[in-house]
Order: sequence, then structure tokens, then C-alpha cells
Amino acid sequence: MIIAIDGPAASGKGTIARRLAAHYRLPHLDTGLLYRAVGAKALAEHVDFDDEAALAVLAGGLDLGACDPETLKSGAVGEAASRVAAVPDVRAKLLRLQKDFAAQPGGAVLDGRDIGTVIAPAADVKLFITATPEARAARRHRELLQRGEEATLDAVLADILKRDQRDSARASAPLIRADDADILDNTRLDVEQSWQAALDLVERRRPHGGLHERGQ
Ligand code: C5P
Repeated sequence: MIIAIDGPAASGKGTIARRLAAHYRLPHLDTGLLYRAVGAKALAEHVDFDDEAALAVLAGGLDLGACDPETLKSGAVGEAASRVAAVPDVRAKLLRLQKDFAAQPGGAVLDGRDIGTVIAPAADVKLFITATPEARAARRHRELLQRGEEATLDAVLADILKRDQRDSARASAPLIRADDADILDNTRLDVEQSWQAALDLVERRRPHGGLHERGQ
């Protein structure tokens, strides 16, 4: 079974994807990490973010294992990731790896922005996880404070709105709900309620689950 999970920044899609992968014993790929790794490398090597050819070279030589997971989670790297992700040649370099991950025998869970539309359009289950920008900013703000990063709620909200705009407006694989994805708006749900709602949707859609035909 392939489960495709998309949604905007801080929607909780990563947590849901990890839990679904553990629940169904499927391998999981957080595709945002790939773009974060390219963004982090561009920052570290002072690559000009307008130099698309140089960014594509970084993406082509990506070694995820060499990246420090804590650095990848920072707000600055998230912003850099969203900038490099708008470059078509960067996306092209990261395409094969993601498609191969999705196509492995037994299936997989992938989360990102274009999983249901580009990486795994034939996924068995597609979820689009979302919440209001204010709710997502409050969550991201809490996370950043817990990690010891300084940030005001207003600054985090401004960053989320900028990321939403850039991710949705770009020409190449924009953040968009696949027509056949189920929407989960978890604005008013806590983490546990959001997980239960996601699991219910997957159970209804998965092969041998309640609803066999997509679109029912
Ligand atoms: O999900 P996360 O915040 O880690 O993603 C960082 C950035 O990577 C996003 O803002 C988005 O621009 C980009 N991204 C993407 N396509 C994906 C996953 C992430 O464009 N499949």
C-alpha cells in the first residue's frame, strides 16, 4: 500500500506520516528533508539562491546521511528549502529517488507537497492535511521555543504565510490537493484526535478496507 500525505508547513503531516508508517509497518520518507538538505548545503556553501544551475548540482550530489538532523529542522533551513524547492532542476534531481522509494515492494508512506500529484499519483490512499495559518504558526512557534530557537509568534506566522504563498504559487509541482485526496483539517483537533481522524480515513480507503473504490 502506498500512502501519500501532503499539506502545508506545520500541518502535522509529518507526525501523522510517521505514525501511519509504524502502524502499517511501512517504510517512511519525509520528502521535505531532501529539500531541507539541499537548502542547508546551499547556506553552508554560500551558494546564491538565484543560481539555479549551482543549486541543481547540490541536489544531484545530495547525501542525506551526511546531514545533521537538528540543523535540518531549523527555521532558517526551512526557508532555504522552500526557495530551492521552487527550482525545477532541483526538483528533477530529487524525483527518481522519491519515485523509487514509493514504488518499493510492499509500499511506503511519503509526506511532502507533491506526493499525491507528482511522486505517487496512483497511491492507494491520499491525505491532504491542513489547518489555518494561525493554528500552524502556534504549533511551529511552540516547537521552535522547545528547541531553544528565539522567535515571536508574529514572525513565525509571517514565515508560514510566506512559505504557503511560495509553495502554492510556484510553477513546478506546487502545493495543491490532488483531486482524489481526502482533506483532513485539524485546526480544532489535538494531536491524538488528528491521528485518529487520519487513521479512520486510511482505513476507509485502503485496499481491503471499507471503501474500495476511490471517489466513494
Ligand atoms: O515539509 P517541510 O517543511 O520539511 O518542507 C520544507 C520545504 O520543502 C517546503 O516549504 C517546500 O517548499 C519543500 N518541499 C517541496 N516538496 C516536497 C516536500 C517539501 O517542495 N515534496
